[in-house]
Amino acid sequence: MQGLAGKKILVTGASSGIGRSCVLRLAQEQASLILVGRNEQALRSIAVEPQPRICVCDLTDETRIKLLVAELKKELGSIEGCVLAAGAHDVRPLMMESPTSLQKIWAVNVQACLGFLGAALKSRLLARGGAVVLFSSVAVRAGGPGLVAYASSKGAIEAATRSLALELASQRIRVNAVAPGVVRTPMSDGYLSKLSPEQVAHLEAQHPLGFGQPDDVAGPVLFLLSEEARWITGAVLVVDGGFSVA
Ligand SMILES: NC(=O)c1ccc[n+]([C@@H]2O[C@H](COP(=O)([O-])OP(=O)(O)OC[C@H]3O[C@@H](n4cnc5c(N)ncnc54)[C@H](OP(=O)(O)O)[C@@H]3O)[C@@H](O)[C@H]2O)c1
Repeated sequence: MQGLAGKKILVTGASSGIGRSCVLRLAQEQASLILVGRNEQALRSIAVEPQPRICVCDLTDETRIKLLVAELKKELGSIEGCVLAAGAHDVRPLMMESPTSLQKIWAVNVQACLGFLGAALKSRLLARGGAVVLFSSVAVRAGGPGLVAYASSKGAIEAATRSLALELASQRIRVNAVAPGVVRTPMSDGYLSKLSPEQVAHLEAQHPLGFGQPDDVAGPVLFLLSEEARWITGAVLVVDGGFSVA
């Protein structure tokens, strides 16, 4: 993948699932990594070279985000890429939601993600010519019972991707999103555990290439960060094993 070696790339959600897989792939490309998550032990257990910078941060804590961005600005000057994979998922009919439960999903999937990015842009931590990858989901288009909070939060990310791409084009900062289908991670395992074996089999059959693995999404994320994608911005790349066309 062209143009990733030596680039400083920050990954949120780095401790698990797709974010972790992105870290492993980026390390293979010799990127210089900054890993963000709440679980220090999980972040430190990712053995990659060169040694990544570990940042323990709850991204729903606005004050902590400001401090983190200021620390990174002072220490690194700038970064060239952001993979904003941190996310939260829940299954609950809207009538069972409360303002607090809705806010919990939106706080991680929308406010934390855009709050971090806004702070990184304001401080100029994210350099001119940088690339950002956000995370949507096929749930935006397919929907599903109990997915109102999650799917709507990811719809907001797709809308933000398009506006940000336009807002940042003059700085040559590219902003794209990936929209995965079901990928086997702790997040999807939590969701699938609430379904019957028949429902899981039906959902898997709706993915012509079967459920995905984290690495199936990490490759497209690296592509969007790389020089190969230099003329792509404002796009939502569907990575779903054929779910959306089945
Ligand atoms: N897996 C799928 O089927 C699927 C499908 C479509 C879209 N996606 C999207 O892909 C992204 C990655 O999902 P995944 O399946 O890899 O999830 P995952 O394995 O559950 O990992 C979620 C990550 O988010 C981090 N996180 C959650 N809340 C946080 C907070 N308040 N502050 C900081 N970090 C926080 C977690 O870190 P700690 O808990 O260590 O802090 C963890 O690293 C998410 O945005 C998800 O919505 C996933």
